This record gives sequence, structure tokens and C-alpha cells, in this order.
Amino acid sequence: MTPKLVHVDHPLVQCKLSLMRKKDTSSADFRQLMAEIGMLLAYEVTRDLPIELRPIETPLMPMNAPFLQGKDMVLVSILRAGNGLLDGFLKLVPTARVGHIGLYRDPRTHVAVEYYFKVPQDIDTRDTVVLDPMLATGHSAVAALDRLKQTKPKSIKFVCLLAAPEGIEYLHEFHPDVPIYTAAIDEKLNDKKYIVPGLGDAGDRLFGTL
Ligand code: URA
Repeated sequence: MTPKLVHVDHPLVQCKLSLMRKKDTSSADFRQLMAEIGMLLAYEVTRDLPIELRPIETPLMPMNAPFLQGKDMVLVSILRAGNGLLDGFLKLVPTARVGHIGLYRDPRTHVAVEYYFKVPQDIDTRDTVVLDPMLATGHSAVAALDRLKQTKPKSIKFVCLLAAPEGIEYLHEFHPDVPIYTAAIDEKLNDKKYIVPGLGDAGDRLFGTL
């Protein structure tokens, strides 16, 4: 299977991302921009959702109109920065269910440890979209997908804002069936495993905890 990578290079996404990268952008603006990019990414990610025709009546005549088919999707936010993208996704897909996965990196072993996991019980009948703005080493993304797959979602897509080549490779290696959607592919990771040029710590910038 050839893993799928979608680079969403729409000019609006790129411009908003550049504003987010600027170190003097406030938390309030950063949050607003992430939500706006979330909406634009949601538009791309949902492009292939199946539709079905249902009869309706316009003020002028009956017609068969397209509606989304199947159950509402599940948006899974990887805490805490995933919540920044979630806001935008929910604006566009307000009926989506929401799951959360909390992971932290053990400072000694560097292994991702789960501290929170909650998804809808019937996730096996729903398409899911996993949200995490920064795909850096890919370790937490792989751990989150390993855990999520135990619940057998109907399908999974992974969405981020910035991806490092190292993270893409790692995620593709362990989950080649999960398409990655990203607004940018940056140069590399630095020695502290931050994406460069990047935008810094997405969670800290979102929530003002710098
Ligand atoms: N997480 C972040 O928030 N920023 C990075 O650059 C890498 C991981």
C-alpha cells in the first residue's frame, strides 16, 4: 500500500499559517488562526465523504437533494493542542462526535504514556479524523493511532498543521493505511525535537502557557 500524504497548499491556509509562525503573534490571534485553518483543512478532509439523494421540496418544486450518507464522523483530538484544530472542524461539521486522547512522554523512557482515552462506543461504525497540529517525531501520533485502532474505527485520517519529514516517515511506516493531511511540510526536527522553522510549542502558544 502506498501511504497517502495530502499537502493542503491553498493560499489562505498558507497565509494564515505564516501569521501563526510569527513569534509575536498573540495567543488570541494564534487560536483564531488555528481554528480558521482547521475549517479549511476540514473542507479538504471531508471532500470524499459519500452522499445520498433524499427527496425535499424547495419553494418551487420537489427535488432529490444530496445529503451526507452514514453516521456522523468522529473527531479525535490529541490533547492538548488538538483542541485548537477541533474548534475549526466543529464549526464546519457541527454534528460530529468528539473523542479525546491524552498522552504524555515519559521523560526517562521517552515512551508515550496514556492518561486519558474517551471515544464514542459505536466508533466501529464511524469514520474518524485524528487531530494533532504538530507531527514532529511521530511517536505520539503512532501511539494514539495504535490505541485508537483497538476500538476499530470504520476509517481513520490524520490531520496536522505542520509535519516534519521524520514524522511523516515514522507514521507511514507504522500506519501506512492512515492518510496524512498537512498544511505544511517543514525542513526537519532540531536537537530538541521541535519542528523547524516551525512555530514553537503549539499547546503553549494556543493556551498562553509559555
Ligand atoms: N510539538 C510542538 O508543539 N512543536 C514542535 O515543534 C514539535 C512538537
